[in-house]
Amino acid sequence: MKVLLFGSKGFMGRRFLEIFPEAIIPSVDIADGRNVGELLDCEKPDLVINAAGRTGRPNVDWCETHRMETLKSNVTGPLVLLEELGRRGIYWVHLSSGCIYQGDNNGKGFVEDDPPNYVGSFYSRTKAWSDQILKDFPNVLILRLRMPFDDSTDDRNLIMKLRKYPRVLDAQNSLTSIPDFLIAAKALIERRKTGVYNMVNPGTISPFEIMELHREIMDPNHRFEKLTLAQLGGVVKAGRSNCVLSCEKLKREGLEMPTVRESVASSLEKMIAPFGVAQDA
Ligand SMILES: NC(=O)c1ccc[n+]([C@@H]2O[C@H](COP(=O)([O-])OP(=O)(O)OC[C@H]3O[C@@H](n4cnc5c(N)ncnc54)[C@H](OP(=O)(O)O)[C@@H]3O)[C@@H](O)[C@H]2O)c1
Repeated sequence: MKVLLFGSKGFMGRRFLEIFPEAIIPSVDIADGRNVGELLDCEKPDLVINAAGRTGRPNVDWCETHRMETLKSNVTGPLVLLEELGRRGIYWVHLSSGCIYQGDNNGKGFVEDDPPNYVGSFYSRTKAWSDQILKDFPNVLILRLRMPFDDSTDDRNLIMKLRKYPRVLDAQNSLTSIPDFLIAAKALIERRKTGVYNMVNPGTISPFEIMELHREIMDPNHRFEKLTLAQLGGVVKAGRSNCVLSCEKLKREGLEMPTVRESVASSLEKMIAPFGVAQDA
C-alpha cells in the first residue's frame, strides 16, 4: 500500500511515520490545489493521511492573532484535499479534534453526530468547520483526538506541558493516549472505515489528577497548585474546551482502548527511564 503523509514533521505526523514508515512525505502546502493535484498524479497513493494543520506555538492562543494562517491550514487545506482526493477516488484520513465540544453532555459524553457546541477559540472553530464539512463526504476517515499524551519528552506531549505549569486545571476531560490511538487508527484504516470516530480513551481525568499521578509515580517533590475553571480565563487568551467524548463507536468496532487512567499511569511509568524517580525531599 502506497501511503502519502502530509504534516510528517509535526508532532502527530511523526507518530504516524511509526506505523507507516515507508510513507511518502512531501513538503507541499495542502492549501495549494495545483501542487497537491500534481503530487497525487505523480505518486498515485492508495492512502493519504492529513496530519498537517496549525495548532499554534506555544499554544492555541497563537491562532487568535494568526487567523489567516490558521484558516488556510485547518480549513482551506482540508477542503483542497477533499476536492483533489475526491476527484481521484483516493481514501484518506484527516486529523480532527474533540476540542469542538464543551461539557459532558449531561454525563453521556458527546457522540460523533452531536453538533459542535464550543466556539471559544479560533482554533476550535476552524477544526469544527472542516470536521463538519468533511463528514458529509465519502472516502474520508475523520479521527478526533483530545489533548494527546505519551511517554515522550516532546514538549507537545500533554504530560510534558503539565510539568511546566505552576497551576493545573481541575476539570474532567477525555484524552487520547497516542500509542493506543495509533493501534486503533491503523485498524480503522485497514478496515477502510470512513466517517467520524472519537479517538479517546474510556473514562475521564483532570490535568490536576494527572499531576497527582505524576507526583506519585515520578516526582514526590513536584509542586503545583489547583486551577479552577473559573480562574482559567485569567491565564489564557483564547478559551479552552473541556469536554467528555463518548468512545462507544470505537468500542463497537472492537477497538476500545485501555482506560485513560491506565494509559496515563503507563506513560508515566515509561517516563521514569529518561527522567528517573525523584527521591522524597
Ligand atoms: N497536538 C494536539 O494537541 C492535537 C489535538 C487534537 C487534534 N490535533 C490535530 O492534529 C493535527 C496535527 O497536529 P500536531 O499537533 O501534529 O501539529 P504540529 O506539531 O504543529 O504539526 C503540524 C504540521 O503541519 C504542517 N503544516 C501546517 N500547515 C500546513 C500546510 N498548509 N501545508 C502543509 N503542511 C502544513 C506543519 O509544518 P510547518 O510547521 O513546517 O509549516 C507541521 O509539520 C492538526 O490538524 C491538529 O489540529 C492535534
